Amino acid sequence: MLFMCHQMAMKKEAQEKLKAEELRKAQAAADIPIIWILGGPGCGKGTQCAKIVEKYGFTHLSSGDLLRNEVASGSDKGRQLQAVMSSGGLVSNDEVLSLLNDAVNRAKGGSKGFLIDGYPREKTQGVAFEERIGPADLALYFDCSEDTMLKRILARAAAAAVKRSDDNEETIRARLQTFKQNTSAILELYADKTLTINAERDVDDIFQEVVQAIDCVLKKKAKIAAHC
Ligand code: AP5
Ligand code: MG
Repeated sequence: MLFMCHQMAMKKEAQEKLKAEELRKAQAAADIPIIWILGGPGCGKGTQCAKIVEKYGFTHLSSGDLLRNEVASGSDKGRQLQAVMSSGGLVSNDEVLSLLNDAVNRAKGGSKGFLIDGYPREKTQGVAFEERIGPADLALYFDCSEDTMLKRILARAAAAAVKRSDDNEETIRARLQTFKQNTSAILELYADKTLTINAERDVDDIFQEVVQAIDCVLKKKAKIAAHC
């Protein structure tokens, strides 16, 4: 009997902890915008993120950059990641999500908002992110033709002092193929929070549309906070 009471008390305590954690996440999410930055290789995700950081001071977390940092560390894990990235495929979500989760936790507290660049790349990634880290307020999808994306990456590679190892034509074509296979399912699942932006235009014209969308999210968040 005593044992059962003890077990019930433990269960209640665990449930309360879970509720408190959910509340904490909900409060954090209500304060700080989380924005997913979607689009194929070379569509301009990084370029637009740099401009958003300049204007809004958000924290920019690029899944590709986090993975490249791991590769640069020279670890065994890094070598395995490099092999997948060089093939133009997707790294396992466990790896990507834990890198993102750690980076979000490191930046939390001081951050004004999160730009999650290059994630989700398939729909189960989106579901896992929202369960583990928090709900995304907005997804910006930069829509661009394959031809333009290929040309942009080749131009970036030609101008770079240090070329990315996946910026060669064979790997770029594989990256484009991976992107094509997964993207419509993501856009369908998150249609209610996705804004598609024509990314075939000038960087500043694209950015104007980005700013309108972010301002709208910030206004909504401010209204929610005012009602708390
Ligand atoms: P990642 O690093 O994310 O690469 P990507 O998606 O292929 O995109 P890029 O970084 O090459 O291009 P971008 O869209 O940022 O364009 P940018 O602004 O640089 O991912 C690399 C790999 O990591 C993946 O293939 C995968 O293996 C792995 N990975 C990453 N995330 C993952 C995930 N979630 N799950 C599993 N695996 C994952 O612009 C490109 C060039 O165009 C620049 O030179 C720029 O100056 C120029 N440019 C930009 N905008 C314009 C414009 N409007 N007009 C003219 N030029 C422009
Ligand atoms: Mg990028």
